[in-house]
Amino acid sequence: MANNTLSVTDNRTGKKYELPIEEGDVIRAADLRQIKVGKDDFGLMSYDPAFTNTASCRSRITFIDGDKGILRYRGYPIEELAEKSNYLEVAYLIVKGELPDREHYERWENNIKIHTMVHENIKKFMEGYRYDAHPMGMLLGTVGALSTFYPDANDIHDLESRRLQTRRLIGKMPTLAAFAYRHTKGLPYVYPDNDLSYTGNLLSMLFKMTELKYKPDPVLERALDVLFILHADHEQNCSANAMRAVGSSQPDPYACAAAAVAALYGPLHGGANEAAIRMLMEIGSVSNIPALLRKVKEGERRLMGFGHRVYKNYDPRAKILKEMAAQVFEVTGRNPLIDIAIELERIALQDEYFISHKLYPNVDFYSGIIYQAMGFPMTMFPVLFAIPRTSGWMAQWAEMVRDSEQKIARPRQIYVGEPIRHYSELASRPKPTQREDAVSEAI
Ligand code: ACO
Repeated sequence: MANNTLSVTDNRTGKKYELPIEEGDVIRAADLRQIKVGKDDFGLMSYDPAFTNTASCRSRITFIDGDKGILRYRGYPIEELAEKSNYLEVAYLIVKGELPDREHYERWENNIKIHTMVHENIKKFMEGYRYDAHPMGMLLGTVGALSTFYPDANDIHDLESRRLQTRRLIGKMPTLAAFAYRHTKGLPYVYPDNDLSYTGNLLSMLFKMTELKYKPDPVLERALDVLFILHADHEQNCSANAMRAVGSSQPDPYACAAAAVAALYGPLHGGANEAAIRMLMEIGSVSNIPALLRKVKEGERRLMGFGHRVYKNYDPRAKILKEMAAQVFEVTGRNPLIDIAIELERIALQDEYFISHKLYPNVDFYSGIIYQAMGFPMTMFPVLFAIPRTSGWMAQWAEMVRDSEQKIARPRQIYVGEPIRHYSELASRPKPTQREDAVSEAI
């Protein structure tokens, strides 16, 4: 039988160590601490900026095989869920671990819908944002503000409280998102219509004008639902990690979710589809693609919507969206950027740089083109990502709260600053040297 240990020889001392290899082919970084040069030595640490090879948790929620391009929620392939399920059912699956039977599904749907309304003061709070505020910034601030409306939410070790906050936040996110959008347009906020589906109601709150009842286009309603399924979770991505890291100091989940929204705001995460659309618009025509690719290969810029920390193969979500785009265009008319995108993908996937770097389209490459065709402004793209990702964030947070191995997230550092020096009075300080000036330029 194989010996599940790692033998390490410290060549500085000649000492040998046996480190256990645990389930999942991991060693515990803390086991390195016994490797010391002397008695007072702190012990060996691993250095892993950006966690490129460090597991921060054990999780049962989402499985990704980046080399094979596989994504599964709770074991179910994303392709099957996108074809057969709907977002609310997938949210149940992600949060609770199993697909619901009919009775549980109906109760879940009802429980989410009864939380779609927000306190009137939330509406007033949002009215306070500047007329041109970015909707993602508004969402970020308002999700954080929910913390002040639900002080009971800090009872994070209570199962019923966690369940209630989860239903509340999944229920309210579309309302907050739609209010943010209406605010940027100077339009009156539209209250939820619980006769409609989750995505149908979102479309109503976004686009309803003077009609008494908004009727969502069934193709667009379903397309949005599929987009929401694809965005529901993605294991330890930047925003899930933010949710967990902030959650580890045990504030209420709204404070954690605000941090997750903030992480999602950035152009390397949820802002990438906006960046991808801007890039496609800048290319403008298929004939300009080679010039852009040259700049990318020379390291002058990145191909937005390409590449992924985990996928070193085609992102399975991008494949589903590429196919779905045609159905959406039948209703909305063709977004001409799709032709540039398809040609850009074709050329890039034959190019040695992209092949050797294993760079493939990610979900953001096609999602923006679909959102744009559906009439969403680019500033709404990350907001449309945050709504479905809420179920993933809440599941990741609840898993973290219940994990007895988790403690406050607190990485180590390697101190590379000055050794001890002593305070001198202002008047007697020498002029800064060139090096000190360079250091102060860092901020
Ligand atoms: N265009 C060109 N080159 C790229 C790209 C890209 N989009 N992405 C990675 N590379 C290259 C890097 O230059 C680097 O090359 P080198 O080794 O020759 O220096 C190599 O590939 C590895 O890149 P890293 O930045 O180390 O990869 P990392 O895993 O840290 O980054 C990321 C992943 C942030 C997604 C990156 O691929 C990127 O910036 N992509 C564009 C932004 C984007 O589409 N983000 C959406 C991610 S999916 C999501 O959040 C839903």
